[in-house]
Amino acid sequence: PSYKLLVLPGDGIGPEIMHEVSRVITWLENNRNVSFDLTYDLVGGASLAEYGVPIRDEVIEKAWASDAVLFGSVGDPKWGHVGFDKRPEVAILKLRQELGLFANLRPAKVFDALIDASTLKPDVVRGLDIMIVRETVGGIYFGEPRGIETLEDGSKRGINTEVYTTSEIERVARVAFDLARKRSNRVCSVEKCNVMESGLLWKEVVTDVHAREFPDVTLSHMLADNCAMQLVRNPRQFDVLVTGNLFGDLLSDLASMLTGSLGMLPSATLGAVQDNGKRPALYEPIHGSAPDIAGQGIANPIAQVLSFAMLLRYSLNMLDDADLIEQAVSNVLASGLRTADIMSEGMARVGTSVMGDAIVRE
Ligand code: NAI
Ligand code: MG
Repeated sequence: PSYKLLVLPGDGIGPEIMHEVSRVITWLENNRNVSFDLTYDLVGGASLAEYGVPIRDEVIEKAWASDAVLFGSVGDPKWGHVGFDKRPEVAILKLRQELGLFANLRPAKVFDALIDASTLKPDVVRGLDIMIVRETVGGIYFGEPRGIETLEDGSKRGINTEVYTTSEIERVARVAFDLARKRSNRVCSVEKCNVMESGLLWKEVVTDVHAREFPDVTLSHMLADNCAMQLVRNPRQFDVLVTGNLFGDLLSDLASMLTGSLGMLPSATLGAVQDNGKRPALYEPIHGSAPDIAGQGIANPIAQVLSFAMLLRYSLNMLDDADLIEQAVSNVLASGLRTADIMSEGMARVGTSVMGDAIVRE
């Protein structure tokens, strides 16, 4: 088979780490029965410099025409002072919005070789492998009414409203249940139904979708504040977590630090299945463009490589090849190679391309 991928390296370390992915792609083409039709384009600061906008409509169209989008990162301090529409970060916001990417998948997985990087005790995180599914286009970040009003006495009030509809909850719940079937078959749904009406509806709808479509999956419910506590106390009790935009924002950042290594963590954002059977999807590391180390050849390419493995798994159903890449990364870490960000005593410090070499060889 042949697949169309849109590759958007972006700014800072983006192009450096994307280069290592391109070598993994070449390996797959040479060794597996698959070919990739890659289209590269500029986004973020790189696009601002060339075209005066953070992303062109043409790039959005190319994204629609692809099987999946592989994204690096955007952001460059050079553009920090300009207005909102001219900020590099608008590129990723616009892609999410235009492609309707409503479900953000953030795995938090602890590699045995990096167990010491966790901020928690090794006993608590050894073997940790959880997946947080965050709703990303609804909830309190977008609900109406919103704004800052001036009251009669001249004082002000700021308003945000959490709104969730049945269909918004159903579609993200389905993503979570589907994922659970490919993992340990457990979903924990997180809200605050004790104090929020939107949370009450969330719980009701997730329960309905479960009963109607996924009775084989084990479903539990947890209040968000308790979930934050449980993620630190005993994170391995979870498999898939599904939650709204606000709680998912906080809990996924918290969960990323259970693994302790920003340069290791991939993510996926999925949209709705279209009439032609395609589902728009974008894969990117959770870290940013790391301007402080850009151009030095020392960035860790693993989050970007693992983002590509997620692309194979969730967009192309190439499960064996995704496993192969994840295993290669694990073996390379076990062999003692480390980029600077994950370096520890007694290990061999290497740069971006040597790490890429090692992964391809493995
Ligand atoms: P950052 O994630 O870029 O960097 C935070 C720290 O982690 C830095 O010290 C960096 O050197 C290090 N780091 C990150 N990724 C690394 C890797 N692969 N290997 C080794 N070290 C790594 O976050 P920061 O500094 O807050 O943001 C920098 C720029 O990136 C900003 O313009 C920000 O808006 C943007 N950003 C973009 C994102 C995206 O494209 N989705 C996400 C987060 C930030
Ligand atoms: Mg956040």
